[in-house]
Amino acid sequence: MDSVKQQIEVLREALEQHNHNYYVLNAPSISDREFDMMLKQLEQLERQYPEYDDPYSPTHRVGSDHNKGFEQVAHEHRMLSLGNTYSLAELDEFVGRCRESLPGEELTIVGEMKFDGTSISLLYENGRLVRAVTRGDGEKGDVVTDNIITIRSIPLQLKGEGWPAKFEIRGEIVLPWKDFERLNAERAFNEEPLFANPRNAAAGTLKLQNSAEVSRRGLDAYFYYMLGDELPAANHYDNMMAARDWGFKVSDAMTRLHSIEEVDRYVRYWDEARRDLPVATDGLVFKVDSLRQQLNLGFTAKSPRWAIAYKFQAERALTQLRYVSFEVGRTGVITPVANLEPVQLSGTVVKRASLHNADIIRQLDIHEGDMLYVEKGGEIIPKITGVDEDARVAGAAAVAFLTHCPACGTALVRIDGEAAHVCPNTYGCPPQITGRIEHFVGRRMMNIDGIGEETVEQLYSAGLIRDISDLYTLREADVAMLERMGEKSARRLVQGIEDSKAVPFERVVYAISIPFVGETSSKKIARACRDIDTLMSMTSEQLTEIDDIGPKIADSIVRFFAVEDNRRIVERLRQAGVCMSMPEADDSRRSDRLAGKTIVISGTFTRHSRDEYKELIELNGGKNSGSISKKTDFVLAGENMGPAKLEKATKLGVPVIDEDQFLQMIEIINN
Ligand code: IVH
Repeated sequence: MDSVKQQIEVLREALEQHNHNYYVLNAPSISDREFDMMLKQLEQLERQYPEYDDPYSPTHRVGSDHNKGFEQVAHEHRMLSLGNTYSLAELDEFVGRCRESLPGEELTIVGEMKFDGTSISLLYENGRLVRAVTRGDGEKGDVVTDNIITIRSIPLQLKGEGWPAKFEIRGEIVLPWKDFERLNAERAFNEEPLFANPRNAAAGTLKLQNSAEVSRRGLDAYFYYMLGDELPAANHYDNMMAARDWGFKVSDAMTRLHSIEEVDRYVRYWDEARRDLPVATDGLVFKVDSLRQQLNLGFTAKSPRWAIAYKFQAERALTQLRYVSFEVGRTGVITPVANLEPVQLSGTVVKRASLHNADIIRQLDIHEGDMLYVEKGGEIIPKITGVDEDARVAGAAAVAFLTHCPACGTALVRIDGEAAHVCPNTYGCPPQITGRIEHFVGRRMMNIDGIGEETVEQLYSAGLIRDISDLYTLREADVAMLERMGEKSARRLVQGIEDSKAVPFERVVYAISIPFVGETSSKKIARACRDIDTLMSMTSEQLTEIDDIGPKIADSIVRFFAVEDNRRIVERLRQAGVCMSMPEADDSRRSDRLAGKTIVISGTFTRHSRDEYKELIELNGGKNSGSISKKTDFVLAGENMGPAKLEKATKLGVPVIDEDQFLQMIEIINN
């Protein structure tokens, strides 16, 4: 047994080292394939020997798709913000103020990047990550440790030596440009709202309930501040270099500066060079290096006197509005788009910018032919930020929002309290119809090979399909008659449609375009309902009992199935052989022994892993929860259950049971 334990430990250590080489040093030491094989080997061992499972094992970096609420804790040291400056003159004043308060002393300033993400505070004890907390309101924040563990560049176990027994390190969670772009492209494809910038995307991701989704999104983290009683050095810079040795990602841009001239040079250099960085930055931060001097300078109510931020200018261009076009999405939402005289901005040519909705057009007060300011400050998506009113041609009319759908002429409606105008002609408006079909065939939905936007348009114009269920009646001969479509492509398309019948039910739920039902909610709905008949018969109240399904989604589902056309389409899909239920296979393990019970898991177990227990709870009709409250029915406790949790359970009178008792409860063991 010991040798198994050893083998597990060797694998864990090696995998973490490879993670560090890849995610922190940017210098991969083995191929992805080799890495995956090692990870699989470790997973298998951990499954076989659950007694050696460890929440910090690299296998858990892929996250879990179970839900949890976030616990809130008070920060030991308040998380403050920084004062802002916008010019070298103001930086000069900052340095001057520091010098004045430290008469006759040498002053070293550390220059570093101001990463544009969301801040995080990590607590390490005996070299291990024990807790990750968001900034929150600066006084207290949310515990997001499970999500943070999925970030491969964050060390769970520190490397090297010399770390204090207990310390806090702060940094910025960022979403690198390439991951941000990939995420937004996916969201655009799924017609989900886009993130305006990597900062919003990082903050939103960190608060996700589903750590498997967090893991997939590709967050990263840079560290810039260490706190504690026994720090390795008496100055900020050396502390950060020590942090780098322990495995943290510390920006290479961090450097010591000794005069305002050096500060000036640093600003000028990074103002340009930041464009080549893989992550978004919105400025630079300058900090007094010596911790003793920092202590002397102290804090104002809001920010340290020993540090200041310098904000970069957002890039801006002025260009003429050619016209505003209106686009109709698959859900009927009308999006106004400013079509511009092409203009160069931060390395790309901008021709179009979304104006989002009628309110934004009115707020900006845009008139025909106006000269518009376009910005791309830390935002990849160009944004119209204002109008040059002096350049307005006398008598130019204000841009008016459409009253009727540009595609089908139906009068637009605006739902109370919502900003969007919608074309209500759901089943007769061509771009909505083709949009839904395009969505249906998409890679993450039915994944039908050989059909894209253009083919859908062709099939629709030729009258071969009016809705998604018509796809299943297409014959090779019909398809082959279309322009640019040979026999071979037609065969591929029809085969692709045939293959789609094997796509699991949860993706079918997503594919049929129920408004507001996205990829994640589809999964939850499908797993909870098991089949389409149950789903179609559920009331809004029943639907809101499903995890993460709120009244907006629930009402939308009920409204969707109330429409005769939708029920007919579903029926035709079923007749065609599209999968309308979850597989029966694991039904034998299901029961309702834990129906209505809310259960909290804590500690480590010997008979099954934590995730297996979570699954068992769900299979038996129970609900997993992350924190103990009055509503908790019992705590399933393993070894090393956290003392805080135990205390809370005792205080609230929540029973605590061990794994044998639990397994008896669900009748898996009978001794
Ligand atoms: S130091 C007490 N350094 O900017 C000083 N902050 O406006 C703590 N930030 O909340 C902050 N890069 O989220 C510091 N190199 C850097 C930073 C940085 C980004 C963020 C951080 C902070 C905000 C302050």
